[in-house]
Amino acid sequence: MTRRLLVTGLGGFVAGSVIAQGREAWSIDAISSPNHSLSIEGVRCHSLDLRDSDRLEELFKACSPNAVIHAAAKADIDFCEKNPAEADEMNVGVTQTLAECCDRLGAKMVFCSTDTVFDGAKGHYTEEDHPRPVNLYGETKVRAEEIVLGKLKDSVVARLALVMGFPVHGSGNSFLFKTIASLKEGKEVKFPENEIRTPIDVVTLGQALLELAGHPHAGIFHLAGNTRLNRYEMGREIARHLGFTTDLIISTDSNAMPGRAPRPNDASLDNSKAWIRLETKMKDLIEGLDHAVQFKEQYHG
Ligand SMILES: NC(=O)c1ccc[n+]([C@@H]2O[C@H](COP(=O)([O-])OP(=O)(O)OC[C@H]3O[C@@H](n4cnc5c(N)ncnc54)[C@H](OP(=O)(O)O)[C@@H]3O)[C@@H](O)[C@H]2O)c1
Repeated sequence: MTRRLLVTGLGGFVAGSVIAQGREAWSIDAISSPNHSLSIEGVRCHSLDLRDSDRLEELFKACSPNAVIHAAAKADIDFCEKNPAEADEMNVGVTQTLAECCDRLGAKMVFCSTDTVFDGAKGHYTEEDHPRPVNLYGETKVRAEEIVLGKLKDSVVARLALVMGFPVHGSGNSFLFKTIASLKEGKEVKFPENEIRTPIDVVTLGQALLELAGHPHAGIFHLAGNTRLNRYEMGREIARHLGFTTDLIISTDSNAMPGRAPRPNDASLDNSKAWIRLETKMKDLIEGLDHAVQFKEQYHG
């Protein structure tokens, strides 16, 4: 019998990739915010403010999923810093409600967390390193991780590195989409040279999240690419590979920009566990970029 998957964050960047790639193997229900009303062939699409816990519980019961990929979040770091109550309600409160639903109905949860749970002082973080966030977004994710890991022994906390690719719907939370749009218009794009990351392409990420949902993996997994580099170098590599001038890629220091929430400097993730345990293989920067471009041509035309 086909297994049932519930995905939150329909309309967002990561969920779009999960749904596009999971439609054949899973029977999918997907929830978007009331801001997006989407219709996708072969997917039961629902529109709901996830903070409405009564309606979420009702919908969860009706869907009765075997697994949940929880990708919805307030993922804008600066918004979270300025709106702590809203960030808390969404990133912690909704995760708590979903974890309780999973517990009651025996569903597995794959929770999308972030490399921003770390302070960035060390880099190469493994699943054994202790989180120490430097901003409120990271704090909410750490608290949500604790809820998921404490309540659901069979569930997964997937810590995502910076995600690279093209969103299936809208512009989502994609720096690549916005960068290419600016470069096409001949506009400069600023990339922080102080931020070291291990970017993962959204296609490989979607495959890995589906694999984690469908197999008996549990605990924390770092989902990250193989290439560790600062974001300025990354911007230049991307521009060069896609045939744009690198002159428009400008170096900045994200911690020197007034009014911005602090960012971890080196939040690079060690992906050895994913390499050993998953069939989905993590990719180098350019291999991942090519994969994202091919996916865009296949799914978006
Ligand atoms: N993209 C990255 O580089 C990255 C890196 C590390 C971790 N992550 C994590 O990965 C997950 C997916 O990220 P993403 O890039 O796909 O983010 P995204 O594009 O911003 O998508 C998040 C989705 O959640 C929805 N949402 C927010 N509040 C909601 C509510 N109250 N009810 C229903 N839906 C709501 C948003 O809807 P609206 O658009 O209407 O607000 C949006 O469609 C997040 O948990 C994020 O923290 C992302």
